[in-house]
Amino acid sequence: MKRHPFTSSCDWIAYFYENAQTAARRAKPSALVEMPDAIRTAIANSLPAWQLGETSEGRHLRAAARQYAEANDDPAFLSAVELFIREEQRHGASLGEWLDLAGIPRKKRDLGDSLFRICRYAIPNYAVWASVVVMVEFMAEIYYAAVRRLTMCPRLKAECKRILQDEVKHIQFQCEHLAMTRRKLPWWVRSLVEGGELVFYTVVCSAVWLAHGQLLTAAGIPRRQFLVVSAEKFRFTHHLMDPRRYEFGVQKNSQAGRRRSRRLSKIAANWLG
Ligand SMILES: [Fe+2]
Ligand SMILES: [Fe+2]
Repeated sequence: MKRHPFTSSCDWIAYFYENAQTAARRAKPSALVEMPDAIRTAIANSLPAWQLGETSEGRHLRAAARQYAEANDDPAFLSAVELFIREEQRHGASLGEWLDLAGIPRKKRDLGDSLFRICRYAIPNYAVWASVVVMVEFMAEIYYAAVRRLTMCPRLKAECKRILQDEVKHIQFQCEHLAMTRRKLPWWVRSLVEGGELVFYTVVCSAVWLAHGQLLTAAGIPRRQFLVVSAEKFRFTHHLMDPRRYEFGVQKNSQAGRRRSRRLSKIAANWLG
């Protein structure tokens, strides 16, 4: 298996910080909130729950990340996680803004969101948190691609495109760190964990289809296609989480890249206060 360098926390800080600056500079396209009734109903019945899911304060994640940072002697990881939380909150804020423009009420509570939060918080451990979140992020990739295809609003299309680009990096972020937490586990323990994740992922897919199948169908994604794509994503995640895929402790960038990364880390640390 080809080995890839494990991305350092400094590089993640640099990435999240630059992405935040790019997002702040980006012009927002105009919003076209008039839409056919069927599309409006599908979006109104579904998007507010995802918007709520993007608004977590990140209190539990910070606690779990602190444990990970101490266990792996990686204090910069805390700043990377802080920037990650802010990026998720930006997703929530921009979707919330669009819902307000469209006159679609936001949700304060949602059964699916509450269940996912319980699963994430059940065991205060970064590996458990990331394992749950990465599965939801795979669902998010399918979901936002469907919203982007369904809507005619340039603003919502642009928001979905930006979220989709961000989620690719989020998945890489979680999977690399999951690989780090699993690198010392014997193969049979890793197989047991993967079995448990498959069961959980099946539940997640079923819950997403039950709650958002109407929108996915309207966007031209029937249940069979949803299941096929979900299964492919599960296989791909486990490839990304495989510790044998990484060379831990090897820096990816050149000397110049590392200098830039350190400089951006300092700027980001000031920015975070
Ligand atoms: Fe997100
Ligand atoms: Fe995400």
